[in-house]
Amino acid sequence: MLDKLKEFEEEIKGFSTKSKEELEQFRIKFLGSKGLIKALFEDFKNIPKEQKREVGQKLNTFKNFAQSKYDELVEHLNSTSTNENECEDYTKPGFPFEFGAQHPVSLVINEMCDIFSRIGFVVKEGPEIEDDWHNFSALNFPEEHPARDMQDTFFISSKDKYALRTHTSSVQIRVMENEKPPLRVIAPGRVFRNEAISARSHCIFHQVEGFYIDKNVSFADLKQTLQYFAKEFFGKAKIRLRPSYFPFTEPSAEMDVYWGLETETDYRITKGTGWLEVLGCGMIDPNVLENCGIDSKEYSGFAFGIGVERLAMQRFNIPDIRMIFENDVRFLKQFSAAF
Ligand code: PHE
Repeated sequence: MLDKLKEFEEEIKGFSTKSKEELEQFRIKFLGSKGLIKALFEDFKNIPKEQKREVGQKLNTFKNFAQSKYDELVEHLNSTSTNENECEDYTKPGFPFEFGAQHPVSLVINEMCDIFSRIGFVVKEGPEIEDDWHNFSALNFPEEHPARDMQDTFFISSKDKYALRTHTSSVQIRVMENEKPPLRVIAPGRVFRNEAISARSHCIFHQVEGFYIDKNVSFADLKQTLQYFAKEFFGKAKIRLRPSYFPFTEPSAEMDVYWGLETETDYRITKGTGWLEVLGCGMIDPNVLENCGIDSKEYSGFAFGIGVERLAMQRFNIPDIRMIFENDVRFLKQFSAAF
């Protein structure tokens, strides 16, 4: 009996197969109801009493060994789905591959960064939590300016020291403080304002800030740069600048792009004027340059700030700004083909 066990054990050890049929043969031979193991257990009756203990143990060990070898081979066969006689059909259609989608805000920001990087602007970022200096004081906001009021700003510490930045203009200050002109920077980012949420405005939105500081930078350079942007982004070359006010630029302006009034949508987008308001801009106030240690007699610069959501809404026909922040997959999925 013990010799037989040894012999079978060797046979099992050496056994391997890639075919389901062979494995079934193996099972029938050793583990089946008329198999060898069954027969050995039958024979066990005839073993002399004094050997029963030793042989019994060996027999059990052998049975377990055969069973686990079988289990192992089954698992192996299942995990390698092909067998010797079959091969993959390479003409079969592939598995469906799910495309992700970029967020409409990312799509617009990426496009803007791309447009400006073609004329030498580099991308910089700043923190979303800002101190009073970078968000307001260095940008020439007088102490009592209404934009510092609780209505507009989310303050996050006592004594109004820190706040969620209300615009990306804070990045102008951060870059000017740390780098020397000439500077040609584009700074995309999220901003926060304590405003009532509606279909047209939200307390979170995104801006792309741009600025250029060098010797002899003039308003004409600003205009030319913005015209280039309008042409590239909207495909429209007609722009107009309306006088405006920002504490950190002088003179300041707002830019409109001539959109036209052909369809009903044109009326809706432009509120019946044919012009689309796109951004705020101006020549950087000398005080701001001086606040950052840049000599305003030697250098001048322009800056602009573009609201991203409005452009995304116009580009993708999004009727309500709140959709942009809800992260509803049915909405987001629609942008999978947009890049
Ligand atoms: N920071 C201004 C805003 O939030 C936009 C702006 C940026 C205006 C740069 C002029 C220059 O409205």
